[in-house]
Amino acid sequence: MAIRDILTVPDPLLKQVSKPVDAVDEALRALMDDMLETMYAAPGIGLAAIQIGVPQRVIVMDLARGDEERAPRYFVNPEITWRSEETQPYEEGCLSVPEIYDEVERPARVKLRYLDYNGQPVEEEAEGVFAVCIQHEMDHLDGVLFIDHLSRLKRERAVQKVKKAAKAA
Ligand code: NI
Repeated sequence: MAIRDILTVPDPLLKQVSKPVDAVDEALRALMDDMLETMYAAPGIGLAAIQIGVPQRVIVMDLARGDEERAPRYFVNPEITWRSEETQPYEEGCLSVPEIYDEVERPARVKLRYLDYNGQPVEEEAEGVFAVCIQHEMDHLDGVLFIDHLSRLKRERAVQKVKKAAKAA
């Protein structure tokens, strides 16, 4: 396993639409292992493959709280099959937009299907932080960042802030 570099805005790769995965094989599991290690090191609760520059439809996530045991989750070729009409605001952040947090309104519950770490199909319903996180990560697969849901002014300000911080580092 290896920790990879996380791309930050305005890297153009983050706007790219990721391609479906053909097979859940050893190479893909190695990628998912690297993604998980990178996410834990950051630290973050979710990461899409494009955030480390790999345009494949793969997400890793761990919503366990600080004192809980790790609970890694893997989503290959995830699709949302249903969204609740009810929406919910949540203050989001993103490893590709470091130090920026803002409220995004999304469907409160979604149903999704995907392949797991072993390539097995799974269908489930998400709510709460899980619903927020899976929708945020799935946006990444389509080249969409959470700041794209904000006003243009807020988005431009966020990108400038990240650029400035990167230059100072
Ligand atoms: Ni993100």
